[in-house]
Amino acid sequence: MRKKIVAGNWKMNNDLNQTILLIEKLKKIEINEVSVMIAPSSLFLKTAKDLLHDFKIEVVSQNVHQENKGAYTGEVSCDMLKSIGISTTLIGHSERRAYFNEDDQVLLKKVKYAIDSGMKIIFCFGEQLIDRKSNKHFEIVKSQLENTVLKLDSESWSNIILAYEPVWAIGTGETASPEQAQEMHEFVRNCISNCYGDLISEEVSILYGGSVKPSNANEIFSNKDVDGGLIGGAALVLSDFNEIIKANS
Ligand code: PGA
Repeated sequence: MRKKIVAGNWKMNNDLNQTILLIEKLKKIEINEVSVMIAPSSLFLKTAKDLLHDFKIEVVSQNVHQENKGAYTGEVSCDMLKSIGISTTLIGHSERRAYFNEDDQVLLKKVKYAIDSGMKIIFCFGEQLIDRKSNKHFEIVKSQLENTVLKLDSESWSNIILAYEPVWAIGTGETASPEQAQEMHEFVRNCISNCYGDLISEEVSILYGGSVKPSNANEIFSNKDVDGGLIGGAALVLSDFNEIIKANS
């Protein structure tokens, strides 16, 4: 049975005090069978990890560099993350692709490096509005996957979570309809199945991301190939995040 997951991507929000405050509130919520993750700023990963020591919430990184060490000012490696107990990282978020020029080549290095380092990854992908309008969304998503995670060997897949995030739905208030989400998730699962077989494709959790909020979470999560969500804005508001977790339970 594949895992249901709700992951909060805090992006570049919350200073130290705000991080501590939100985590203290998160510690009080009830979590049952769904896996809950949060990705605070890399500056506060250790603090978050310590605060959540005895709790069922996993702390994950928003990003990792593709080299293990060296002259890469401002970057963070897998070894660094692992040394503070972080074993999962997002890779390929559309904001990294758009603002930090992370293309498929770089992302392939990142996914290989993270998996070889024994980390789990949440690999993000998704089409732009122009791709959808010109009916190229399946083609684009397929190539984003073929150029990166579909190059990994089958053993790697127990450490991969996917997150379909149509760029036009991120932070815009516009969400993919439940039908649009389901058809893309099914398409992605078929791509995995074609490369690795049903046994693997049925076990991969595929999250949806892009303006998920309490009012639409139920509808989106009720699709058979949607295994949870990667939540941006709504993860910063405790009551909203809590509602979204409940919607996936
Ligand atoms: P959003 O962000 O929920 O604010 O649209 C989602 C994401 O970027 O992961």
